[in-house]
Amino acid sequence: MKNSKVVWTILLFACCSAIAMAQEKWLVPEANNDMLSILIFDEDTQLEGKLIYTRSCRSCHGDPTKKDFTIMSPSPGDVASDLYQDQTDGSLFYKIQKGRGPMPSFENAFSEEEIWSLVSYIRSFNPEYQQKLPNLEGIEIPNLTLHISYDENIDKLVVKVTSDSLEVMADASVKAYIQGMFGKYPLGSEMTNELGIAYFHIDSKIPGDTEGYLDILVKTYKDYGTAKYAGKIQAGNPTIRKSAIEGRHLWSAAKKAPIWMIIIFNMMGIGIWGVIIYVIFGLRKFKKLS
Ligand code: HEC
Repeated sequence: MKNSKVVWTILLFACCSAIAMAQEKWLVPEANNDMLSILIFDEDTQLEGKLIYTRSCRSCHGDPTKKDFTIMSPSPGDVASDLYQDQTDGSLFYKIQKGRGPMPSFENAFSEEEIWSLVSYIRSFNPEYQQKLPNLEGIEIPNLTLHISYDENIDKLVVKVTSDSLEVMADASVKAYIQGMFGKYPLGSEMTNELGIAYFHIDSKIPGDTEGYLDILVKTYKDYGTAKYAGKIQAGNPTIRKSAIEGRHLWSAAKKAPIWMIIIFNMMGIGIWGVIIYVIFGLRKFKKLS
């Protein structure tokens, strides 16, 4: 009698944990699982993903590889771990888009491109990862050309996208960055209008070089075609940059320091040595006496 009670309890427990486990498994429809990215992953898509991740994911998932995700049930886990890296790109995309339980759905918050750049960032922690690209056979990939100018009347970077035969490209995605001393600063992400043009506002207070030139990077995507532009435009605030450490050393201040400060500084030094020598002599005397 007692024995059968134990058996029932064990069975019940096994059933419960089986149900819990089944719930843990997050099934992704096959078509979604096999979906491939519309973006070719590179350091720019990783940067884009990193910016979104830091704002919208880090609070729960922590810093990738650090395993410092928030403790909750089910666990968010570290996006650098095998749990993530063993999944297909399509599966990660689907889960970010749809969410489940405490994991929010980002379908309305981010464009498909932004979600793919998150996947690109998650993949950057997997040295073995190689992006699988869709079979592009039969698809015509446009040859894109970028034309960059700056309109100082409206403080805007003007980006025109055409084919190599100068045919206008509407609905091309364009991203622009300023390259600074400490990395890239994104100016934004726009689609070209029917004239093939996208505008980006540049704050004229942004410090440029001595003549106000800024280093600009522009990328465009359309139907797997991409183009990149790196160059200078005169849109910033002319700035004379001093060495970052100039004038910060105490010793370099000696030239500017008033004479009374130098005297007091040196006297303090002499005073401290005096005390040390006095103590040493005192100790020797003490030794002799004893
Ligand atoms: C409020 C906390 C929270 C935020 C914010 C959050 N997540 Fe999650 N995430 C979770 C939890 C909890 C799970 C596990 C859900 C489950 O298994 O049912 C999860 C699961 C996932 C999974 C699937 C992992 C698996 O089990 O296969 C992915 C992918 C993911 N998150 C990516 C992201 C990305 C990218 C962002 C930011 C855009 C994000 N998450 C923001 C809590 C969060």
